[in-house]
Amino acid sequence: MTKFAVLGHGVVGSGTVELFLKNKDKINQKCDLELELGRILDLRDFPGLPYSDKFTKDINDILNDDEITVVAEVMGGVNPAFEFVSGCLKAGKSVCTSNKELVAKKGAELISLAKENNCNFMFEASTGGAIPIIRPLHTCLAANEITAAAGILNGTTNFILTKMLTDNMTLEDALAMAQRLGYAERNPAADVEGHDACRKICILSSLIFGKHVYPDWVHVEGITGITTEDAEYAVSFGGAVKLIGKVTQTDDGKILPMVSPAFVCSANPLSHVDDVFNGIMVFGDGFGEAMFYGRGAGKLPTASAVLGDVIDCAKHKNTIRSLTWEDSADNSFIADYKDSETRMYIRLENCDKSAIEAAFPDCEYLSRKAQPANEFAIVTPSLKEREIDEKLENIGGKVLGKIRILDL
Ligand code: HSE
Repeated sequence: MTKFAVLGHGVVGSGTVELFLKNKDKINQKCDLELELGRILDLRDFPGLPYSDKFTKDINDILNDDEITVVAEVMGGVNPAFEFVSGCLKAGKSVCTSNKELVAKKGAELISLAKENNCNFMFEASTGGAIPIIRPLHTCLAANEITAAAGILNGTTNFILTKMLTDNMTLEDALAMAQRLGYAERNPAADVEGHDACRKICILSSLIFGKHVYPDWVHVEGITGITTEDAEYAVSFGGAVKLIGKVTQTDDGKILPMVSPAFVCSANPLSHVDDVFNGIMVFGDGFGEAMFYGRGAGKLPTASAVLGDVIDCAKHKNTIRSLTWEDSADNSFIADYKDSETRMYIRLENCDKSAIEAAFPDCEYLSRKAQPANEFAIVTPSLKEREIDEKLENIGGKVLGKIRILDL
């Protein structure tokens, strides 16, 4: 028999217990296991549940229980999660987490601690919710050189953008709905300002390129500056606005991880990833490209990924060695986004068309209904970001919006 514990009984924690108890017999039969729920750690009381007897407020009840060999950490945040996870790993218990902040900030250290103590540190649920993306990267696609990944990594902002574009909802109303549905972070600024997507692109970049990418090293822009006018221009461009997390290799051997809104043309499947769904495209030398799609947030979708790792750990105590990367001393391997080339959508007010044409001779003009005579919206040719910014400084008029074009 293998017992597992659950740290945290919030949205994901309660989902993990619910899904396990619902499917326990099938899981054990299919996976040839005798998996049992051991303890649940939470400071709150949960009377009246069929499993109320499992709760403890003391992590030592889990650390000192030799029958518990796998722990699901679903509390979120770095403290006290880091202390608890480290304690479990030091006690030789494998840990499975949905906590992207913990993995993005402490992943290298925890992976190393798991190795030292002959157990596993797994985090499929940390990126892409229910979507298998971590495991394919280090197992199924392991024979390839992965060159890039790009995707919609935050369910809340994708839900908000979809509701704004299709139902004319305000950002605030759509966010409130995402909170009610259990998609948003405790502090939803982490969603709308792009920090949650940043943590996820850090995890993907670290796994793909083998060196820890810390969140502070990533250029991040959220969705708070996106207007309905931008969305209309995106439609005129033939696509949609999405919050994209992306990592690419640059010519000088560095990598460029970044999070920002982008116009995605309708020929790109990411433009059709709507609501709470996430979609991630991965590029590699052997397989070309692959796309991963599914629910990126929510109670049971995230629980599904957590339990997948719990089952894996119950079956393979100390064999998951490909889920790894090294720590990095500095960010010298991260490129400056200002040196990268992109096409850019720019919305301008009170600017001479002649000045626009002088600055961006081959630009494409976009239009929208009720477009004021003093407003222009263009898509520039591919240029260095630094160059685009320099040209805009001298163009006159006011820049009302500036969004990258996703060219993969
Ligand atoms: N707030 C996150 C999201 C939860 O909306 O994607 C899943 O990581």
